[in-house]
Formats: sequence, structure tokens, C-alpha cells
Amino acid sequence: MRLSTTFVASLVVALVSAQGNGSYAVKTPPLTTPWTDEVGTNPWPEYPRPLMERANWQNLNGIWRYENASGLGAVSSPPFNQTLSQEVLIPSCLESGLSGIQATGAIASWFSTSFTVPSSWIGQHVLLNFGAVDYEATVFVNGRNATFHRGGFFEFTVDITNLLKNGTNDLLVFVHDPTDSEGVVIPVGKQTLNPSHIFYIPCSGIWQSVWIESAPANYITDLVLSAGMDGEVNVTVQTSGTAASPVEITVLERGSNVPVGSGSGTSNVAFQFAVDSPKLWSPASPNLYDVTVRVGSDTIKSYTGFRTFSKGPVDGIERPLVNGEFTFMFGTLDQGYWPDGIYTPPNREAMEYDLHVLKDLGFNMVRKHIKVEPALFYNACDEMGLLVIQDMPALPSSRKPDAAQQDEFERQLQILIKQHRSYPSIIAWVIYNEAWGQITDTYYPEFALTDLVRSLDPTRLIDATSGWADHGAGDFSDNHHYANPQCGTPFYSLASSPFDESRIGFQGEFGGIGHNVSIENLWGVQAAINTINQTYEIDENLEAWNYRGHVLLEELRQQVERFSCCGAVWTQTTDVEGEVNGLVTYDRRINRTDPVQWKADIQALYDAAASRSNATARLF
Ligand SMILES: *[C@@H]1O[C@H](CO)[C@@H](O)[C@H](O)[C@H]1NC(C)=O
Ligand SMILES: *[C@@H]1O[C@H](CO)[C@@H](O)[C@H](O)[C@H]1NC(C)=O
Ligand SMILES: *[C@@H]1O[C@H](CO)[C@@H](O)[C@H](O)[C@H]1NC(C)=O
Ligand SMILES: *[C@@H]1O[C@H](CO)[C@@H](O)[C@H](O)[C@H]1NC(C)=O
Ligand SMILES: *[C@@H]1O[C@H](CO)[C@@H](O)[C@H](O)[C@H]1NC(C)=O
Ligand SMILES: *[C@@H]1O[C@H](CO)[C@@H](O)[C@H](O)[C@H]1NC(C)=O
Ligand SMILES: *[C@@H]1O[C@H](CO)[C@@H](O)[C@H](O)[C@H]1NC(C)=O
Ligand SMILES: *[C@@H]1O[C@H](CO)[C@@H](O)[C@H](O)[C@H]1NC(C)=O
Ligand SMILES: *[C@@H]1O[C@H](CO)[C@@H](O)[C@H](O)[C@H]1NC(C)=O
Ligand SMILES: *[C@@H]1O[C@H](CO)[C@@H](O)[C@H](O)[C@H]1NC(C)=O
Repeated sequence: MRLSTTFVASLVVALVSAQGNGSYAVKTPPLTTPWTDEVGTNPWPEYPRPLMERANWQNLNGIWRYENASGLGAVSSPPFNQTLSQEVLIPSCLESGLSGIQATGAIASWFSTSFTVPSSWIGQHVLLNFGAVDYEATVFVNGRNATFHRGGFFEFTVDITNLLKNGTNDLLVFVHDPTDSEGVVIPVGKQTLNPSHIFYIPCSGIWQSVWIESAPANYITDLVLSAGMDGEVNVTVQTSGTAASPVEITVLERGSNVPVGSGSGTSNVAFQFAVDSPKLWSPASPNLYDVTVRVGSDTIKSYTGFRTFSKGPVDGIERPLVNGEFTFMFGTLDQGYWPDGIYTPPNREAMEYDLHVLKDLGFNMVRKHIKVEPALFYNACDEMGLLVIQDMPALPSSRKPDAAQQDEFERQLQILIKQHRSYPSIIAWVIYNEAWGQITDTYYPEFALTDLVRSLDPTRLIDATSGWADHGAGDFSDNHHYANPQCGTPFYSLASSPFDESRIGFQGEFGGIGHNVSIENLWGVQAAINTINQTYEIDENLEAWNYRGHVLLEELRQQVERFSCCGAVWTQTTDVEGEVNGLVTYDRRINRTDPVQWKADIQALYDAAASRSNATARLF
């Protein structure tokens, strides 16, 4: 067919105006997922914080406006009452296709939207919540500075009651995200401005949900909740007011809503109560209970699971214990990257898809690798019965922090623990991964950091150093080795440390076997494709890949049977950029696993572990 020149000309005009007038459209990313086209302009409609849910809320996600701030100094002259040049989808990473921007070099950015507070909220306080902004945010409401927040992975809330006006309110956010710019040593995880093989493109901006909610003047600011296998519930409820207020908490059976226990205490002071013979939470039966907490006229909904994580010798070997029993933990290295959304999963269904793939194959754990997910991810793990080993996002891998940068790492580590310690499924915290950003020459910071994490959360295990620079801190002796495991074994490679039998023998990473796929399932960035040849091992076809998977899982099984192996992490859930070693491809369109074989091989690990543990062995 020949196209007329006028038709071509009008097509060009249409294309230019579609891109040029700044209106939102998904930019074509280097690879899509089955959910890319389902995102639309009202993303993430769910209440974003299921551990502390308020009835009166309004989602601010959707189409906002964006403009490059061209420089950090811009924050001192904010573009109040101006129309920023482009539309952007919130939440998103500016670098993602779903953002509608697909930026490179997003260092300093402006975002704006407006909102109206429902008239029924009059007389109440209004709280503005951000799920996460990478990396620093200065928030202006109606031309006034509401708050500043630093740390790309954490939730923050600001009471904006005194900044509001009747009618339309203007929200303007300045975001600064240097990632790993020269000299910068901040928690970035896998993000880098120069992606290559195991390091990926960055995420900048407002990448989790934004919402407002109404609360009374004295409102609940934090709920620390932990429930054990003996029915004991530990609670601390923090409130905005400093005066001591009575707290009432009720535990309800999920589904029937029948109260099974309740407690009362005082705000800002820890208290306890007990529930009689609760149904326990475990990966095999993830029973949860609903919880309501009331302080004066503020009521929040939450939930919990009764379980106890501990460690202790079983038949002479130090083991991780779930409800007093040795539970072999088998999970994947879970990066949480998406070709269309980068850090932001396209939607809840997509996010849960990865977890269903793991659960269906028989994995009982996921290692959330140097990234922190939206609250709904942990909620899904709680509900599905997947233990979570949560990593602290690492500093840039080859840089060491100065004293101030180390202090900031420590401050953000504390935020990680405080914001996530009430999820039932989190069993362990990881402080350092493979010595990335870990000071090793002057002193060993992981000892004091382990004590700090233990003081904030005495109910979880601590993996102080997952791989490489282990000096004896924490509860795990954690080996990383590719492709084959060295899990609690009397042999090891020189990059790692010998197995220490006073701690839990663990394989924090292994596997990583690769299998290339055709271009339509690859991250279509030539620089990434050029690094596929850095994969530890390439298997020519899926038959070979599954055969190698079987051999490696059988080797792990033998280590469970003969040595002190207590759990392992398979690299990895999905391909990411130039890494082609996932159980599924980066676009989630190909499953590499032969499900019958993998299910049998994974079950064999649990069977081997059961044969090593005495059915009557109990710590309690
Ligand atoms: C921008 O262009 C798109 C596509 O041509 C059109 O649908 C939209 O209405 C335009 N928006 C504005 C504000 O002009
Ligand atoms: C923003 O502007 C700066 C300076 O002009 C430029 O270096 C950078 O690439 C721009 N970023 C984006 C995302 O457009
Ligand atoms: C924005 O415009 C409104 C209406 O003209 C005005 O009341 C307000 O002061 C302006 N805000 C700033 C920060 O200039
Ligand atoms: C905004 O206020 C915070 C304190 O909440 C302060 O740290 C920050 O420097 C202020 N930013 C500007 C641009 O005024
Ligand atoms: C807010 O504005 C609405 C409509 O303009 C008006 O009906 C209402 O009385 C105003 N409320 C306050 C508290 O000023
Ligand atoms: C409750 O707190 C006590 C005292 O700190 C602690 O020993 C116990 O393990 C905690 N129980 C739960 C379920 O968190
Ligand atoms: C991949 O495997 C999971 C788990 O078995 C299954 O639910 C899903 O439908 C499979 N996806 C594809 C694309 O085959
Ligand atoms: C991998 O491929 C790149 C680009 O094609 C090439 O420059 C490099 O030498 C290759 N490396 C190895 C180890 O083969
Ligand atoms: C992987 O497949 C892609 C797409 O066919 C190809 O361009 C690339 O060279 C392959 N890389 C390796 C290491 O096989
Ligand atoms: C369990 O304990 C009994 C009695 O001490 C012992 O004979 C047995 O070997 C232990 N282990 C298993 C797996 O039963």
C-alpha cells in the first residue's frame, strides 16, 4: 500500500501532538508484561496499608503533572501556581514506561496534583501519606512546606490539617534522587545510573501510593503488634498526642468476626494480653486474625498471625524453628523488578502472580532482595503463607560509607525494622549482602547493627551478613555459591567463610543457571543483552535447564541429609534486564520450570529435613 503524503503528514502531526502536548500515555518500555495495558489511569486502588487501615480515606493516585526540576537548588523557588509541562502516572518510577515519561537522568523533579477534602471530614485532622518516594521528598501543600523525607523505601505521613483550605488544595512535591552519582553512598539496592548485568536501572520519584485520610486530633500513629504460638499478644500503640490515652484492642476470627480475645492498655506503653488456643500461622496453614484498635474516637483495622520464630538445637544441630519445630526454608532471591514499572508492580494481580508461582512450586519462603515492597506485598505473603527474609537495601556495592553515610544507613535500617515488624510472615532480617557497602577494614559494624536490630525486634532471626564478609555476627552462617550449594557443609569456596556450627547453616544464594530466550521475551536494551554472556552458566534449552535444576536441588537435598543445611535461596524468581536465570522470564510470559519435577525436588528437601528432626523435639 502507498500512503499519501498528506496522510503521512497528518500522522506525523498526530504523533507529535500526542507526545508534545504532555498528556499521559504509556511509553513503550523495552519489554512489557501481560498487565502493562491493564494499568490504566487509576492504578493501585486498594487501601495501601492493611496493618493500619482507616475507614475514611481518599486515594490520590492517578494522573499528576511532572517537570524536570533541572537542579537541586530548584527546591528554593518552587513553581507554585504553575502548570508543570507533562502528565505522569502516580505511583510510578519516572524511568518506567508506565510513568508516561520513561526518563533518563531524573535527578531533580517536580510533581503536582490537587485534591479536595470530602466535606464529611470537616472538623477532623487530615493526614497525607506517601507509601514511598525515591529518594528525598519535600512536600508543599498550598504553597507551604509540609515536610521533608529522606529514604527511598519507606512510608511517611504528615498532618496537613493546618495547611488546608476550603475547595481545591495544591500539592507540589520536589524529589531529589541521586542514586549512585559520584560520591553518593545511600541505600540504593540494585539501582545504578550505569546498569550492567546484575545491577539495574534506577527508580526515581513517587513509586508507591499517595493517599489522604481523616483522623481525630489524637490519632494512632503506629501499631506494634506481635502474637506468639502460646497466644500471647504484645502491643504498643503510639499516638499523636503525648498524653496517656486508653487503648482497646480486639482480636476477631477472620470471616466470622467473632471476638476471640481482647486487651486494654495505655497509649505509648507496651502491654500484653492472651488469646486462648489460637489457630497458629505457618507457611502450611497461614491462619490470620483480624484486629481492631481503638484510642478515643480513632479506630483502625489491622490483623495478626500467631506464630513464634526462634532457633535452637534439634538433634545437636542449630536450627531455625517455626512454632518450635525445625522448618526447612526454601525460597527464591526475589528482586521485585518489572520491565514496565521497574520498582512499581503494574498492579496487585501482577505482584501476587510471582508469589503464586513460588507457592505453587512448593517454595515456603521468599528472600526480598535489597528492596522493600509496598505493604500489600507483605500482606500477600501473610495471607498465602510465604515466610519473608527481608534484606536492608544495600549501599552501592563497591563503595564504603564515611561516618555520616554509615549513620544514615543505620537510621534507615531502624526505619525498615520499625515499619515492618508487625507482619506475621517476616522471619528474618538481613543487614548486609555480599559485603556491599560493608565496612571491613577499621571495624565490623555488623555486630553493633545486629544488637540494634535485636533491640528493636527480639522476635526475628538476624542474618547479619548474607555471603562473603562474615565475622561471626548474627544467627546465620550464610554461604553464597554458584551454581552448586555449600549449605552447612564442611567444604566451602574461599570467597565465603567456613561453616560455623554455632549458627544456622544457610545457603543465602545458589543456582543462578541461565537460559537465553528470544528477543521478544528479553529486556530490549542492547547494553543489557551484551551482558547475558556474564551468566554463571547458560543451558542451551529448557530440557537442559530443568536437568541442571534437578541436579542442583538433589545436591542441596544431600546436604540437608548429611550436613547442617537449614534453608536455601534459589537465584532467582524472574529474569531481570541482562539476567536470564529466572524461574520465569522478565515479562512473566514463560515459565522455565517443569512443574512436576520441581515440585518433587522441592518436596524432597522438606522430607530430607523432616528425617533430620525429631518429631518430638521442641524448644518449648
Ligand atoms: C493531547 O493529545 C492527545 C492525543 O492527540 C489528545 O487526546 C488530548 O486531548 C490532547 N490534550 C490536550 C490537553 O490538548
Ligand atoms: C533534566 O535536566 C538536566 C539538566 O538540563 C538534564 O541533565 C537531565 O537529563 C534532565 N532529566 C530529565 C529526566 O529530563
Ligand atoms: C496561588 O494562587 C492563588 C490564587 O490566585 C493565591 O491565593 C495564592 O497565594 C497563590 N499561591 C502562591 C504560593 O503563590
Ligand atoms: C521544609 O521543611 C523541612 C522541615 O520539615 C526542612 O527540613 C526543609 O529544609 C524545608 N525545605 C524547604 C525548601 O524549605
Ligand atoms: C466551604 O465552601 C463551601 C462551598 O463553597 C461552603 O458551602 C462551605 O460553607 C465552606 N466551608 C467552610 C468551612 O468555609
Ligand atoms: C512479648 O514480649 C516479651 C517481653 O519482651 C517477649 O519475651 C515475648 O517473646 C514477646 N512475645 C511476642 C509474641 O512477641
Ligand atoms: C506459570 O506457573 C504458574 C504456577 O504454576 C502458573 O500459575 C502460571 O499460569 C504459569 N504461567 C505461564 C505463563 O505458563
Ligand atoms: C560478552 O559479549 C560482549 C558484547 O557482545 C563482548 O564485548 C564480551 O567480550 C563478551 N564477554 C565474554 C566473556 O564473552
Ligand atoms: C541471547 O539472545 C539474544 C536474542 O536472541 C541474542 O541477541 C544474544 O546474543 C544472546 N546472548 C547469548 C549470550 O546467548
Ligand atoms: C529422635 O529422638 C530419638 C530418641 O532420642 C532418637 O532415637 C532418634 O534418632 C531421634 N531422631 C529422629 C529423626 O527420630
